[in-house]
Amino acid sequence: MLLLRRCHCLTRFGPLSALRHQTSPGVAVRLWSSSSSGGEDQGSYQRAHTPSWRHALAGLLAGTGAVLAYGLHQHKAEQADNVQTVEKTSPLPIFTQEEVTSHRSLENGVWVTYKGGVYDITEFVAMHPGGDKILLAAGGALEPFWALYAVHNQEHVLEILSEYKVGELSSEDVKKQQSVVSSDPYSSDPERHPGLRVNSLKPFNAEPPPELLSDTYITPSAIFFKRNHLPVPQVDPASYQLHVEGLPGGELTLSLEELKTRFPKHTITATLQCAGNRRSEMNKVKQVKGLNWGIAAISNATWSGARLRDVLLAAGYGPDVAQWACHVQFEGLDKDVTGTTYGASIPLNKAVSEEGDVLLAYEMNGENLPADHGFPVRVVVPGIVGARNVKWLGKIIVSAEESSSHWQQNDYKGFSPGTDWDTVDFKSAPAIQELPIQSAITTPADGAVVDRSAEEVMVKGYAWSGGGREVVRVDVSLDGGKTWQVAQLKTSDKEQEPRPSPLPGRAWAWKLWEVTAPLPPEAQELEIVCKAVDNSYNMQPDTVAPIWNLRGVLSNAWHRVKVKIREDESEE
Ligand code: MTE
Repeated sequence: MLLLRRCHCLTRFGPLSALRHQTSPGVAVRLWSSSSSGGEDQGSYQRAHTPSWRHALAGLLAGTGAVLAYGLHQHKAEQADNVQTVEKTSPLPIFTQEEVTSHRSLENGVWVTYKGGVYDITEFVAMHPGGDKILLAAGGALEPFWALYAVHNQEHVLEILSEYKVGELSSEDVKKQQSVVSSDPYSSDPERHPGLRVNSLKPFNAEPPPELLSDTYITPSAIFFKRNHLPVPQVDPASYQLHVEGLPGGELTLSLEELKTRFPKHTITATLQCAGNRRSEMNKVKQVKGLNWGIAAISNATWSGARLRDVLLAAGYGPDVAQWACHVQFEGLDKDVTGTTYGASIPLNKAVSEEGDVLLAYEMNGENLPADHGFPVRVVVPGIVGARNVKWLGKIIVSAEESSSHWQQNDYKGFSPGTDWDTVDFKSAPAIQELPIQSAITTPADGAVVDRSAEEVMVKGYAWSGGGREVVRVDVSLDGGKTWQVAQLKTSDKEQEPRPSPLPGRAWAWKLWEVTAPLPPEAQELEIVCKAVDNSYNMQPDTVAPIWNLRGVLSNAWHRVKVKIREDESEE
């Protein structure tokens, strides 16, 4: 077994040519010929592959959503083997940690270590738009980043990394590194409902099965979609403190008890939707970067807590502040290995408006917030993209600038279908706040079969619009959009007790809808389509391609499912 593992390590960490043969044949041949036939071929390989490998490695380091199930103990075991093997067999020079650490900038070169290898990634960092995030690993080990973040295609990225290998780390320094590699930062994540469809385990990202989603108007917390970028922090409610900064009254610090008792408790029903909901449909047009969400990265809950407006007023907010301040920033207590917290911001006018209904929520569906949803306090910004609803809230800062966080500046922005990873300039687009009109079919599922004897089909789904705009109509077609009928809208689980109409501009919650339609006599297959309309008469675009964007956000084209009709055997 040990021998086998050693062989495996040799292949991985031995001369590059051996490693290249191990990977996909097409790639191996091109790489092989590039090293034997000179620079031109190398250039053509890089032109052909640059965007995908570059961004795969960037995703790996910047951690914008992929997953690595990090087997720490296995890594340690492999490392132990590698060190002995590498120093005996590698033709590459040996470097000390001190030498690696001296390469932490573009001027001096950017070096990193991984499993005892030393990599010069200067060229990579210089070429990549999110290079500043990657610099966090400069001069040190990649492993702690890989423990937090992951990658869709790990072998592929390892192959890319191998291109940059310049040497081996001295065995003494490898041993030192092993003793400081952190334990699995996800080990204290909470237990999750087994019915969730998991998109990534570490960090945990999951959505409910669509048919469960439309079963109840209020989504049970256990199956409410979960979108975490980092490990779930463990927060002691007794010592929890919320800091409010940037206002004339000086810093205000509130305990959980003070938040609950000093401010009136306010309850709203609001839908949260991830910007990446329905990304999988964009992936069918052309590959995008991010978690492959289906139609259920959206859920609806009741939220209770203090109004952000009330807390800001208590901290000294007044009309004079609005002269210079434009944003309210939020910092979570979840941290990456460098201590960087999750962060986002919203416009000040949304935060302080009486009609904005922004909450510092401590309850979800009538109970304490669950760990995955931000215990003990999260921001709920109704009508605004999920990303700004910061969980495990630690700090609020009133400021002239937006949050400088990666998630505000370099993610969660929309671009033209013509923008690719080589041309994208994240500064050129505004951060997503209000989301566009959305609807989707939750049942029947794509590919379902309906019996002709049933004579009719029941179609169900959800519809929601951002910015407090109310969904006023949902149109459903069974024939791909040639003919339409209007669905019945539901605002409660009980037919007899519909909720009162929302106040204008404050329609924070979704509407469920359903239609029962006769099966068309001649049809063998139905293409069921839905599209919603809000009270500004915003409608969904009919196809995905014209709204495709490289991050796969804002995916809201007409939703389509195909259903087969099974003829009764007796009639055939
Ligand atoms: N807040 C913190 N602190 N950390 C996070 O990873 N994810 C954001 C937002 N708030 C996130 C966060 C994103 S992208 C979304 S879509 C919502 O939380 C998801 O909220 P949920 O997990 O309660 O559904």
